[in-house]
Amino acid sequence: MNSTLKKIHKFSLLYPQDEIAGRIKEMGEQISLDYAGKDPILIGVLKGCIVFLADLIRAIPKSMELEFISASSYNGGITASDKVIMNGGPGVSLEGRHLLLVEGVVDSGNTVTTIIKRLRNQKPASIEIVTLLDKPTCRKVELNLKYVGFTAGDDFVIGYGLDVDQKYRNLPFIGKVIE
Ligand code: IMP
Ligand code: MG
Repeated sequence: MNSTLKKIHKFSLLYPQDEIAGRIKEMGEQISLDYAGKDPILIGVLKGCIVFLADLIRAIPKSMELEFISASSYNGGITASDKVIMNGGPGVSLEGRHLLLVEGVVDSGNTVTTIIKRLRNQKPASIEIVTLLDKPTCRKVELNLKYVGFTAGDDFVIGYGLDVDQKYRNLPFIGKVIE
């Protein structure tokens, strides 16, 4: 579809900028404490992680490394598909390393579950999930999320890296789509 023909979505404010900033600071502090003396690899799940991840790494004042993987269970709009498409992945050895998988939002849980299955093959010392937003009522697979910024309902959310049809990632706050 031509991007100029894409639908405009109405939304209402869900999490304002200052609230998100405060929460990410707390998450960074917690991760720094929990990983004291360790050198974790944060693996961002593109593209929804990017704004959150950029803030999060600056809230972790300790030795760490950054890698990315590209995955999505959505085909563009707001309808989920169960098929997870994965691309790329860390270019370093993960054996014996402590991994933190960083997501913008966990919905059904299919995406992170699929990624974790693949990462486990490389025998890391540990894998934990960090997500800015959790939508637990949408879950289809059982999942333990260690670090959650905000627990939301089942509304489709945009902004702060999260999109509908690749749009709205640049909004500096999180809104919920009301149309
Ligand atoms: P899951 O596999 O169903 O957990 O979905 C996770 C992926 O779906 C995320 O990486 C997002 O790209 C996308 N997603 C799920 N819910 C939302 C939402 O409310 N807004 C924007 N993207 C979403
Ligand atoms: Mg998306």
